[in-house]
Amino acid sequence: MRIDVVSIFPEYLAALDLSLIGKARQDGLLQLQVHDLRDFTTDRHRTVDDTPYGGGAGMVMKPEPWAQALESLVASPESDTPAVASRVVDQVSAGERVETQLETPQPAAARPILIVPSPAGEVFNQALAYELALEDHLVFACGRYEGIDERVLEWAAEHFRVRPVSLGDYVLNGGEVAVLAMVEAVGRLVPGVVGNPESLVEESHSDGLLEYPVYTKPSDWRGRGIPEVLLSGNHAKIARHRRDEQVRRTAERRPDLIAALDPEMLDKADRATLSTLGYTITPTQVQPATPMSGVAAEATRHTP
Ligand code: ADE
Repeated sequence: MRIDVVSIFPEYLAALDLSLIGKARQDGLLQLQVHDLRDFTTDRHRTVDDTPYGGGAGMVMKPEPWAQALESLVASPESDTPAVASRVVDQVSAGERVETQLETPQPAAARPILIVPSPAGEVFNQALAYELALEDHLVFACGRYEGIDERVLEWAAEHFRVRPVSLGDYVLNGGEVAVLAMVEAVGRLVPGVVGNPESLVEESHSDGLLEYPVYTKPSDWRGRGIPEVLLSGNHAKIARHRRDEQVRRTAERRPDLIAALDPEMLDKADRATLSTLGYTITPTQVQPATPMSGVAAEATRHTP
């Protein structure tokens, strides 16, 4: 998979040299490049922002450097997209970058995905990570300040499949931290990146539920033991226990995930656990009995 990240703080992305993602880059499983947006400016001060039309606090990222940066990625030779040869990349004359335009937009389905991290985007989740992991080429455009001039996104839609994506309902100072999270979540799903693919199956969100609690040695630690069944060697019983824990934990911490489950995916024991916790299961829905189940119930559970 090819990944390009454009940012005015390329150093922020240095963490992508480390750990599993760093190794995947070394092994050639991920061709990840970070680009400095300021390299696509034309003025002496390498300006990337200006004041907002209509007034207001903060600055807005200028469209020109973004268009130059993004065009260079659609048209660059690493791209294995077929229409590339007929495209015109920006030319440099007398030391100055001359703005040129891309020709012949590709058919929509063949365009790379342009992810624009933004608190105003769709919320990133594991389903989106799986979807993105199937792509050949992802481009991340890290906005700063009040964001990128909206016309860049409109224009970019002719060359990319544009997806504004939010990490969650809170505001970061820029897109870089969101990109670190998204590249890690997507990159680890690319075949070969995680050594033992089994570990991708039994983890939180892989089946719409949170992961079960895990324990390691010693079996008795500071007076606390572990669930007996885990020492039984009975794999069927262990699997049942873990599934029950998944359902219980998800019901308590994330009732929204339980409500999104397809009831057909629930077996008899799941249904029993959920009804003990106050959920009602209809043929089409899993509903909390009262607003007190879930997060509120968890909050009161530890109150003496
Ligand atoms: N940029 C600023 N806040 C963000 C968020 N919540 N998600 C993604 N990008 C952001």
